[in-house]
Amino acid sequence: METAKVAQKAWARTPLWKRAELLHKAAAILKEHKAPIAECLVKEIAKPAKDAISEVVRSGDLVSYTAEEGVRILGEGKLLVSDSFPGNERNKYCLSSKVPLGVVLAIPPFNYPVNLAVSKIGPALIAGNALVLKPPTQGAVAALHMVHCFHLAGFPKGLINCVTGKGSEIGDFLTMHPGVNCISFTGGDTGIAISKKAGMVPLQMELGGKDACIVLEDADLDLVAANIVKGGFSYSGQRCTAVKVVLIMESVADIVVEKVKAKLAKLTVGPPEADSDITPVVTESSANFIEGLVMDAKEKGATFCQEYRREGNLIWPLLLDHVRPDMRIAWEEPFGPVLPVIRINSVEEGIHHCNASNFGLQGCVFTKDINKAIMISDAMETGTVQINSAPARGPDHFPFQGLKDSGIGSQGITNSINMMTKVKSTVINLP
Ligand code: G3H
Repeated sequence: METAKVAQKAWARTPLWKRAELLHKAAAILKEHKAPIAECLVKEIAKPAKDAISEVVRSGDLVSYTAEEGVRILGEGKLLVSDSFPGNERNKYCLSSKVPLGVVLAIPPFNYPVNLAVSKIGPALIAGNALVLKPPTQGAVAALHMVHCFHLAGFPKGLINCVTGKGSEIGDFLTMHPGVNCISFTGGDTGIAISKKAGMVPLQMELGGKDACIVLEDADLDLVAANIVKGGFSYSGQRCTAVKVVLIMESVADIVVEKVKAKLAKLTVGPPEADSDITPVVTESSANFIEGLVMDAKEKGATFCQEYRREGNLIWPLLLDHVRPDMRIAWEEPFGPVLPVIRINSVEEGIHHCNASNFGLQGCVFTKDINKAIMISDAMETGTVQINSAPARGPDHFPFQGLKDSGIGSQGITNSINMMTKVKSTVINLP
């Protein structure tokens, strides 16, 4: 914290174009090192090999875009004159610009140890902040390699600090440290606890979701099935933006369930090194939690579209049909390859289920009627609604935000740069 504080002072005085130049350099080095970093992701978090490479490349692109966006956003200030406000003469000129916050504490989650780290590091650095990064326990080695790329690019010593360790052991120390001027956190409901303990510092948080996929009768059902599989099962459902509940009109439910079943049967299940579609979930306790939701649904009468199968942390993809609101899986986030289908008889029923959730990250609606889609989007209490596609955070410059227990503030490159700055004004008073 102390080295970060010292390094930040000098960094804030470094010209913006130089900060951008270093970020571009780091982005290029990150991409050059994609293979060893991706290998860490495969070994640490069982991310399928191709997705691991994509995560690193996407991260390099994010850092470059942040540098470009940063010079534009931060290169602009404002001039206000006093006589637009009643009772004032034109004798005051207010110059305002964006200045850094100080030390940003960045805490990314296990599912994107590199990408969700750089989505915090890039904006913090271009805005003139220093960093203390607490990577996820699983994913820490990939994160250390990523930080090394920034150091190779030539960022000053002490500016980017990486502290590894368990959140349960070092989390409170970091989040309650008086030297922290901003916390950017992505993860589970620990974020709610952090928000209660953190001091008077800006918070940016993304804490998971229960993204609903509402399917109307007139939807393109092949598109629906493809998006349910991609949205619900990529990286074995371990994405905050995964489709986590399908709310489908009864009249088309049988057809879609059959189409999804056929696609799930084709998914490969196995080790991440073999680039399998479904890989082991991150921990045994996570697998146990998922199993608990599956067993609860079984006891309460859900229809299993596949046989439930688990070997260690590897869980085969499972679609649960005829799920009802009294089942835990209708509301809780499995973060695994298990997806509930709730049959609905009206659009209102779907919207009601979506809004009754304590989460509000994203959602999606499938219909060919754009007017209906917009009306449903307006009615859904989520940060984003995707029309005719599964939820997703990217492209990474899009605003990304959750309502209710899904988060605080808005991310995306532009919003993160703005969030990691404060406005500073100087007023010139004429005699
Ligand atoms: O897990 C949370 C991530 O923000 C989701 O990102 O939509 O690119 O998978 P993604």
